[in-house]
Amino acid sequence: MPQLEIKNLHVSIDDKEILKGLDLTVEQGRVHAIMGPNGTGKSTLAYTLMGHPNYTVTAGEVVFKGQNILELEPDERSRAGIFLAFQYPVAIPGVTVANFLRSAINARRRVANPEDKGMPIPEFRKMLKEKMDMLKMDRNFAGRYLNDGFSGGEKKRAEILQMATLKPEIAILDETDSGLDIDALRIVSEGVNALAGPELGVLVITHYQRLLNYIKPDVVHVMMGGRIVESGGPDLALHLEEHGYDWVREKYEEAA
Ligand SMILES: Nc1ncnc2c1ncn2[C@@H]1O[C@H](COP(=O)(O)OP(=O)(O)O)[C@@H](O)[C@H]1O
Ligand SMILES: [Mg+2]
Repeated sequence: MPQLEIKNLHVSIDDKEILKGLDLTVEQGRVHAIMGPNGTGKSTLAYTLMGHPNYTVTAGEVVFKGQNILELEPDERSRAGIFLAFQYPVAIPGVTVANFLRSAINARRRVANPEDKGMPIPEFRKMLKEKMDMLKMDRNFAGRYLNDGFSGGEKKRAEILQMATLKPEIAILDETDSGLDIDALRIVSEGVNALAGPELGVLVITHYQRLLNYIKPDVVHVMMGGRIVESGGPDLALHLEEHGYDWVREKYEEAA
């Protein structure tokens, strides 16, 4: 089973160290959630995994299938089987959702086989229809230009549809604190729940305890001060919901 192994990750923004030796392993087939108070570096972790240029890795590695993915371009990470959801996806007027997805699928097929001629259109249509039905999406959606005039919820749906069609082995979703209403949370969690299974490892990063009322994680981690400081089962999320982060902060500060 492939797994994403984050080892001793140190990341700085403008010479300020944000991630300070983060260790985490996400296995295919399990759902992991990272929670933590604002400003602890959750989004920094997501952006670093995506390869955002503002985030400088000063130490550590992220290994997937024997490769340090930090050395790969974002598109190479995707073709390796890692799905990174963008919080603010760009609009591509002129490119429909369907065409975008078909290009992405074909790019991945060509990695497996450089001679590949692409997924035949009837097969693609059938697959897309199945995925859209599974995600309870309106058929018209596939013909719209990607993210062009999409509402927040529609962008989320487009993201989940990408995940469903690209069939990644590991998916990473950062549900940052701004602009996520309860509908968007519901769309993301229904999508993740529909797709979760032995073939998919998920890392959901969230500030909202609420999200975990919808997504049932196998493992919950608490991030504080740029590191994972606690890990546990789903009951850890419930405990945080009830008691907040103060007890973690006290424990962590005592240890530091
Ligand atoms: N572009 C940036 N430039 C400078 N500091 C930043 C930038 N982005 C985030 N930070 C700082 O990095 C820290 C972690 O932020 P972030 O990763 O967004 O945390 P979280 O997602 O857990 O709320 C915060 O102190 C924040 O102010
Ligand atoms: Mg964040």
